[in-house]
Amino acid sequence: MNSQYAGEIESERFQANIYIDTYYNRLLAYEGYKNEVVQLMEDAGVVKKDSILDVGCGTGWFLSLLKRQGWIELNGLDISPDMLVIAREMNPSATFYETPIQEISDLPGEGYDVITCLGTLHHMSDIKMVAEKLFFLLKPGGKLIVHEPNEDWFYERSRLWRTIMKLFYAPLRIKNHFRIKALREPWKEVPPSPHHKDIHVDELAATLQHAGFRLVQTEYKNTLTRVLEGMLFRNSVFDRQLYRFICAMDRLFLDKLAGKRGGAAILYLQRPE
Ligand SMILES: C[S@@+](CC[C@H](N)C(=O)[O-])C[C@H]1O[C@@H](n2cnc3c(N)ncnc32)[C@H](O)[C@@H]1O
Repeated sequence: MNSQYAGEIESERFQANIYIDTYYNRLLAYEGYKNEVVQLMEDAGVVKKDSILDVGCGTGWFLSLLKRQGWIELNGLDISPDMLVIAREMNPSATFYETPIQEISDLPGEGYDVITCLGTLHHMSDIKMVAEKLFFLLKPGGKLIVHEPNEDWFYERSRLWRTIMKLFYAPLRIKNHFRIKALREPWKEVPPSPHHKDIHVDELAATLQHAGFRLVQTEYKNTLTRVLEGMLFRNSVFDRQLYRFICAMDRLFLDKLAGKRGGAAILYLQRPE
């Protein structure tokens, strides 16, 4: 394997053992993000017998969610052997591939009905090549669903808004001070992921279209949820209520108001027949 991936593999080696505990056991937001993807899959007509490949599947948490909801033909691909140890334990009946997506050259069978890339492309180099591989791996007519943080998010772009938001969530931060500190502690050891960056959504859409995909829909989401994603905990009744409230605010008003400056984007594309 090309040594350009060594930094990512090393970073994921540190992340593997703390990933599920941080994102799925303690925090609230990440399960919510995954449920949004399931909703989009259902709206897009993905049926339970469709074959799914989760690219950058990490610990396989999303595949296990799909399994619980009745999907059967589940596959995961990831560059990290350490992440895949956990993914295999969580999903004994799924098939896994340990490779950078950029180095895929064989097509399993006729390809997949659906590919998901969730919080993954923003860790990858050479998105143009990744787009070509995703196209190659899908059956004609197959669906690609991508969920990524938006580089143009208003919170990142405007210092004024960031200051206003920080004042707004200061009481929550104070309330959860010790929980946040404990959550962050093990992450101090993690070497940074070398290609990590937020995604410029229009550029990503253009790259995927250039590879041959048809863009069906782009939804900007989680405008405020993303501000609070690392501060809301599962084991607090108050946090759970607040989380439901901010999700509703995002859905009803804020996502529309923010438009292309929402916190994250879900893209749904299709490989033409
Ligand atoms: C932020 S994690 C997201 C994991 C999972 N999708 C989730 O949402 O819980 C990014 C994942 O992408 C994987 N990854 C990074 N670069 C990759 C590449 N070139 N090919 C395949 N997987 C890659 C990492 O190993 C890591 O598991």
